[in-house]
Amino acid sequence: MSEKLKIGIVTVSDRASRGEYEDKGGPAVHAELKEMLLSEFDVITKIVPDEKDILNNTLTELADNAECSLVITTGGTGPAPRDITPDVTQEVCERILPGFGELMRQVSLKKVPTAILSRQIAGTRGSTLIINLPGKPSAIKECLEAVMPAIPDCIDLLGGPRVEANPEKVRVHTPHRS
Ligand code: MTE
Repeated sequence: MSEKLKIGIVTVSDRASRGEYEDKGGPAVHAELKEMLLSEFDVITKIVPDEKDILNNTLTELADNAECSLVITTGGTGPAPRDITPDVTQEVCERILPGFGELMRQVSLKKVPTAILSRQIAGTRGSTLIINLPGKPSAIKECLEAVMPAIPDCIDLLGGPRVEANPEKVRVHTPHRS
């Protein structure tokens, strides 16, 4: 794992990948990360259609070759027939961290009853933490704010670079640091 934090941001959307519609999810994830993190980080952004093989290759590449410590997907988590993001995340991850999905749905439910429609999950592949977010910018903010307090510790435990967050924006808990 390289020492500078590397984050993959993957927008999963047929229409955004065809350029029929402006990608709002990827930039929203990037903006939230810039707000929340003090650590410098490099970002690799991808926009892919809701196609299993393409998303599988993208997540695998970002984890195994690009050595991202964190990969965040946005979109494709619902129950529509072409929503495949959580299914592919499950396929590529060696271990699932159920608490991420549980917490994100819990906080989202306080905002919209349809939060239960998101099948969003998170898991690890090697030293990479992969997290699914819904596509809507407001959902991205609500979900990232909920799980960010635990992300630096998760990256510590996976052997990645030290991630510092802005204490004015997010109160992280890093019990495994000396
Ligand atoms: N979570 C939050 N916080 N806010 C939202 O507006 N929308 C829900 C849900 N989670 C929503 C949310 C809806 S309507 C759907 S269909 C699912 O996320 C899946 O969205 P996606 O297909 O963009 O991933």
